This record gives sequence, structure tokens and C-alpha cells, in this order.
Amino acid sequence: MNIVLIGYMGSGKSLIGRDLARKLKFDYLDLDNFIEIQEKKKISEIFADKGEIYFRNKESFYLKVVLEESKNTIISLGGGTPCFAGNLENIVRDENSKSVYLQTSLDELVLRLFAERKKRPLISHLNSKEKLNDFIRKHLFERSFYYNQADYKVITDKKDPNQISEECMSLLF
Ligand code: S3P
Repeated sequence: MNIVLIGYMGSGKSLIGRDLARKLKFDYLDLDNFIEIQEKKKISEIFADKGEIYFRNKESFYLKVVLEESKNTIISLGGGTPCFAGNLENIVRDENSKSVYLQTSLDELVLRLFAERKKRPLISHLNSKEKLNDFIRKHLFERSFYYNQADYKVITDKKDPNQISEECMSLLF
């Protein structure tokens, strides 16, 4: 079985993914990282050179590849992956995968993402916490429709990574 972690940027998909993989002795795969290796470019360079639509096409293509080829793997998606091109349907329909939404509050996301926004093409231009808060509030509202269709949901606020992983495992097994 594969376990697919979904959630907004900064919700801890990579950190929890690695922790879960270690605890369950699963492989770990980060979709953004996989795309970077296949395309031989950083995600921020793909956005800058080719634009978001090109990125979304590649993301959708590589998601299918990864779902088909992985076994006993924790797969962390990008924050936008479930929200484009029928990707969510492909995840939910996949009999070999279970999905978990790591849900993080708006305030916590703003706190985490303000410091590292420069690395993230969708929010790198937002130069105050107020602007970032406004952007994430609207974005999260649109995206929650997709995120909430995951098989399971774990709230991450005020929990350490170990607690979050344990909660994921008790839901999944
Ligand atoms: C995106 C999130 C990023 C990456 C790209 C777009 C998004 O992944 O896929 O910058 O649309 O939310 P992380 O959630 O791992 O930061």
C-alpha cells in the first residue's frame, strides 16, 4: 500500500512523510523532488522559465507515474497537486493508495511560511505577513474542497512530528 500525504505548503508533508517512512519501513518519495530530478530543474526554475500551466501538466503526468510504480511508499505531494487536472480523482480511485490530509491552521501556516516564502514561487512576492495571511486564507478556502476528500484528516497544530505520525498510523492501520 502507498500512503499519499496532502496538505497546504508548510503543513509538514515532507517532514511527516520521512518520519512515517522510517517508522513503517516504507520507501519515501517527494513528488516535487521527483519532478525536479526528471526535469533537471528546481520547481522555482520551472515556474520562472515555463510558467505554472507547464508545471501543472508535468505534475499531473509524474503523479500518475509515481502512483503506478510505487509500492509500500509514503508519497508527499505538492500543496497544489490534488487541486488540478483530475489528480485528486486519480489518488482517491487508486486501490493501492490511502490519502491523509495534514490540516494546519491559517495562523500556523503564515507563521511557518513567512520566513521561507522566497523559496516558494506562489508566495515569494508577498512582502508582509498581512498580505501572506490574506493570500493563504483565500487559497486555503478554495483548496480545502479538494483536501477534505482525502481518506483521513490529521490536525497538525500544537502537535510534534512524532504525535502526528502516530495519529496517521492509528488511522491507517
Ligand atoms: C505548490 C506547492 C509546492 C510546489 C509548488 C506549488 C502549491 O509544494 O509543488 O511550488 O501549489 O501549493 P510544497 O507544498 O511541498 O511546498
